[in-house]
Amino acid sequence: LFAGETLFVKGVVAMDGLPEADRLELCFAGRSNVGKSTLINALTGRKALARASNTPGRTQEINYFTAGAYYIVDLPGYGFANAPVKVVEQWQRLMKNYLSGRQTLRRAFLLIDARHGIKPVDDEIMTLLDRSAVTFQAVLTKVDKLRGDTREKTLEQVRAGLARHPAAYPELIVTSSETGEGIDVLRGVIAGID
Ligand code: GTP
Ligand code: MG
Repeated sequence: LFAGETLFVKGVVAMDGLPEADRLELCFAGRSNVGKSTLINALTGRKALARASNTPGRTQEINYFTAGAYYIVDLPGYGFANAPVKVVEQWQRLMKNYLSGRQTLRRAFLLIDARHGIKPVDDEIMTLLDRSAVTFQAVLTKVDKLRGDTREKTLEQVRAGLARHPAAYPELIVTSSETGEGIDVLRGVIAGID
């Protein structure tokens, strides 16, 4: 899937700007700053394909990339963002409409920051996915930031939280875009999607 070139297609600011639904899509969702854009770069082996930054609210459009037969979709984050309230509301509505209403969305990857675990806003989005019958795969990001003795506790808390969501796959993929941990596992999961 990531063997060929991954190309930027377009940035979308409204539902009617989405590309023609002519292929299946995989999207990356999660709180602002969780590491969505960085993870897409790690997966594709491209340093600056998706723009990442330390400022929460960096991605403000739905960004489309092609990868093999799929579209890879980088979503704006939810939760706190360093941007005007009105603008944030607008892109959050777009993100939710996309997650609940995109016919060709094959699987969502729901990113959880290892330092924070599952927050109420994550639960809200996961409930939206349950109701929309969009199966999602949870991915823990930034595990390089965890001390060894907190790691198991965090994993337990997140797994227990996922168990409450019928649309969630039970396994949790543990990653770090910093050290590369889990990136191959995630590639394998993506390769196994039929
Ligand atoms: P928004 O577009 O604002 O919603 O954020 P995002 O989820 O796309 O996050 P982004 O990829 O821009 O990353 C946010 C910050 O986290 C950046 O400074 C990244 O370098 C950092 N980051 C992302 N992944 C990791 C990781 O695995 N480990 C560490 N230590 N930092 C990471
Ligand atoms: Mg981003």
